[in-house]
Amino acid sequence: MPLPHLPSPTSGASTAPLGVFDSGVGGLTVVRALRKLLPHESIIYLGDTARVPYGSKSPETIRRFALEDTQFLINQGVKAVVVACNTATAHALDALRATFRIPIFGVLEPGIAATLASPNCQRVGIIGTEGTIKSHAYQHHLALRRPDLQIHARATPLLVPFVEQGWLDHPALKLVLKEYLQPMLQRNIDTLLLGCTHYPLLIPVLQELVGDKVRLIDSASTCASHVRDELAAHDLLASASDTPPTLHIHLTDLSQQAEDQARQFLGLDLDAIHHASL
Ligand code: DGL
Repeated sequence: MPLPHLPSPTSGASTAPLGVFDSGVGGLTVVRALRKLLPHESIIYLGDTARVPYGSKSPETIRRFALEDTQFLINQGVKAVVVACNTATAHALDALRATFRIPIFGVLEPGIAATLASPNCQRVGIIGTEGTIKSHAYQHHLALRRPDLQIHARATPLLVPFVEQGWLDHPALKLVLKEYLQPMLQRNIDTLLLGCTHYPLLIPVLQELVGDKVRLIDSASTCASHVRDELAAHDLLASASDTPPTLHIHLTDLSQQAEDQARQFLGLDLDAIHHASL
C-alpha cells in the first residue's frame, strides 16, 4: 500500500489537541494517565474498534492500520501523536516517524527506560500480545542496553479478551495468569513489564499474584511522563491559561460494549463518543 501523503505539520500551537490511538479502547489507560499528568491538554482519541485486535495480525497489516490511524488524527489537527498500543509501536513507529512530520511518541521506549531505571533490576519478565513479543522489540532494546539482564518474555494473548470482557478479578483469569507467569516466577523475576496498554487494569490481580517483591512497570503511566517531557522539550505543552481542555473519543465501530469499556478504561463519565471512518 502506498504511504499516505505527507501532511502539512500542524501549526505547532501548544493549544492544539494531542492525538492518541490504539487498536481499541485499551489505549484509554494511557489517556487516563495523560489527563492526570497533563490536565490542561485537549485530547483526541482514536480506537480502531472495527479492526481490534492488532496483536495477532501481521507486521505489514499493523503498519498499514497505524498509518491510517495517524493520518486520521493529523486530519483532526493534532499537534503530536501518542501511539498508545505496544503492538503498533513495536511494528510501526519507525514508519510513522518516516511518514509524518509531527512528533510521534510510542509506548515502548518509556517502558524500557523505566525498567532500566528500576533499582536492582536483574531478571525481567515481559508480557504482551503475540505481535509485541514476536517483534522482539522489548527484548532487543533491553539486551542492547543491559547485556547482563536476564529476560523472560511471553506472549499472553488471552489477557486482552479477559480485560475487554471486564473479567478483571475472575477465577478463570487468575488460572490463566498463573499458567502464563509460573515459568517467570520460577526464575525469580524482580520486574514485570506490562507490554500492553490493556494490562494496567490487571495491576491489582497481577500484584497479588506476583507478590510485593516484583515491581510492575506499565505502559500507561511511563508513557504519560515521557509525553509530558517530550511536549515540554518541543515547547508544545498547553498551559492553564489556554481554553478548557476537551476529550473527544472516536471509535471505528460503535457498540454499547465498546462504550461501556471506554468508560471503564477511562474511569470517568464520557460525553458523546463519535464514529470514525478512516
Ligand atoms: N492495546 C494493544 C497493545 O498494547 C493490545 C490489543 C490488541 O491486540 O490490539 O498491544
